[in-house]
Amino acid sequence: MMDEARVTIRTRDLVKHFGRRKRRVTAVDGVTLEVRRGETYGLIGPDGAGKTTTTRVILGLLKRTAGQSEILGYDSMRDTYEIRERVGYIAQQFTLSRDLTVMENMRFFAQVHGVSPADQAHRIPELLAFAGLTQFTRRHAGQLSGGMKKKLALACSLVHEPQVLLLDEPTLGVDPVSRREFWNLLGNLRAEKGVTIFVCTPYMDEAERCNWVGLMYRGKLVAQDSPQAIKKLVPGRLLAFVPSQMAAAKRRVATLDGVLEVQTYGITLHVFVDEPERREREIVRALESEGVTCEGMREIDPRMEEAFISLITRQRSDLDTESVILPGAVPGAERGGDVL
Ligand SMILES: Nc1ncnc2c1ncn2[C@@H]1O[C@H](COP(=O)(O)OP(=O)(O)O)[C@@H](O)[C@H]1O
Ligand SMILES: [Mg+2]
Repeated sequence: MMDEARVTIRTRDLVKHFGRRKRRVTAVDGVTLEVRRGETYGLIGPDGAGKTTTTRVILGLLKRTAGQSEILGYDSMRDTYEIRERVGYIAQQFTLSRDLTVMENMRFFAQVHGVSPADQAHRIPELLAFAGLTQFTRRHAGQLSGGMKKKLALACSLVHEPQVLLLDEPTLGVDPVSRREFWNLLGNLRAEKGVTIFVCTPYMDEAERCNWVGLMYRGKLVAQDSPQAIKKLVPGRLLAFVPSQMAAAKRRVATLDGVLEVQTYGITLHVFVDEPERREREIVRALESEGVTCEGMREIDPRMEEAFISLITRQRSDLDTESVILPGAVPGAERGGDVL
């Protein structure tokens, strides 16, 4: 059995409905997950998957319909005060006060959380240094770059020294370099302070920075595992190439022996096959006979994105079955070490 003290966030068969009767939306549909102390758990999925609703129910900001949810052993609905004291949160729609300076935003958050003036005096400069904002303390938040705003939001969410941080799409709309910097900060937080991080994101590449990932789709977790293990859930091996005619190529390839699944990524076709060497020749021959050329044919390693699309596609084809949690999702399975 799991050591209870090591579980920071736990849900069991969590359900959240919005609306009634015919207009009912099941935003969270039986989600069971565990986030262990000190880990970075990524809840990954497309828009509308149910990530925000799950997060808000865990935090006690929304009433759950059924099931259980708790943080640090505190019940989401009953123990809201204890949770508020120990948990930091950046909402998806989080906005800083544009007309306040960086320093004033920090002080505002500190006051809301009842941080004493003495604690503020050392903690705020420390957090600003951590976020790389020391030289901008007097700048208005509205004047910061997108990436700096996200870092300030992070610094604000840490001002009461939470043990757990829930971040809802914290890098939405910022450039790749700033996203990288933000994730480096999260890595430092985890390494230096042992903060447990639960982060929602639609960016598949960010999943790689988590040490445990839950893939969410239509209110359900379709897989939970380490990023490495999830990438291995794809069927067979993966060939990629750029066909001269996409529609014709896709149609033809899908009918060939040994082809397990076909996905399109812009102008590139990704084909999962049983034996790459043999199937590569067969694909090229079959397409050439239809006047379609294949450029840059090669075997590639599946990324999180291919794995996710593959899992969703499989789920769609048997939508009625109660499947969903795949091997490795068993609570208590061994989890890999530091990724960040
Ligand atoms: N307050 C609400 N009232 C009705 N439906 C909602 C409400 N909030 C979210 N939903 C619906 O619940 C589903 C999940 O939404 P959400 O949790 O925001 O997903 P995500 O964060 O993954 O984009 C969506 O279908 C959304 O339209
Ligand atoms: Mg959301």
